[in-house]
Amino acid sequence: MIKVGILTVSDKSSQGEREDLSGKKLKDYIKKLGWCLEQYQIIPDEKEKIVETLLNWCDREKLELILTTGGTGVYPRDVTPEATKEVLTKEVPGISEYIRFISYPHTPFAALSRGVSGIRGQTLIINLPGSPKAIEEIFPYLVEIIKHAISKIKGDSSECFRN
Ligand code: MTE
Repeated sequence: MIKVGILTVSDKSSQGEREDLSGKKLKDYIKKLGWCLEQYQIIPDEKEKIVETLLNWCDREKLELILTTGGTGVYPRDVTPEATKEVLTKEVPGISEYIRFISYPHTPFAALSRGVSGIRGQTLIINLPGSPKAIEEIFPYLVEIIKHAISKIKGDSSECFRN
C-alpha cells in the first residue's frame, strides 16, 4: 500500500473561495487504488510554504508519493515547480515529459504546465496541473509508472520486463 500525500496549491482554494476539485479527484483515485492517503493539505501559492510542506512530508512523514496539483502555469503567482526543484535530490524529467505528451491530444495548453517530477530521499514527487479535467486526463496513465518507480526507489533491483 503506497503512502500518499496530496498537496493542492491554490490561493483561492486555500482561502475557501474555490472548491478543491482537483485534490478531490486525486483523493478518489487514491481511494479506488487502495493506496493510503496519509496527508492532504490545501496551501496558497507561496514558495516557502510549499517547500516547508514538501520537506516535512518527505523527511519526517516519510511518504512514498506526493502528488501536487496547481501552480504549475505561467501566472505570476505560480511557483510550484520552483519550490519542488528546491527539495528534489534527483529530477525524473521523463515523468513530466510523459504528462505533457499524453495531455497534448486534449489541449495544446499542456505546453503551459511547467510541472516537474523527481525524488527526495525515498519520496517520489509529481507536479500536476490544477484542474479536475487535467487530473482525469493524466492520472490513470501514471499509475503503473508510479508503482514501478516506487519499487525502484526502494532498491528493487529485479529486471524490468515491461515494454
Ligand atoms: N493538461 C491537461 N491534460 N489538461 C488540461 O486541461 N490545462 C493546461 C495545462 N495542462 C490542462 C493541462 C492549462 S490551461 C494550464 S494554464 C496549465 O496546465 C497550468 O495549470 P496550473 O497552473 O493549474 O497548474
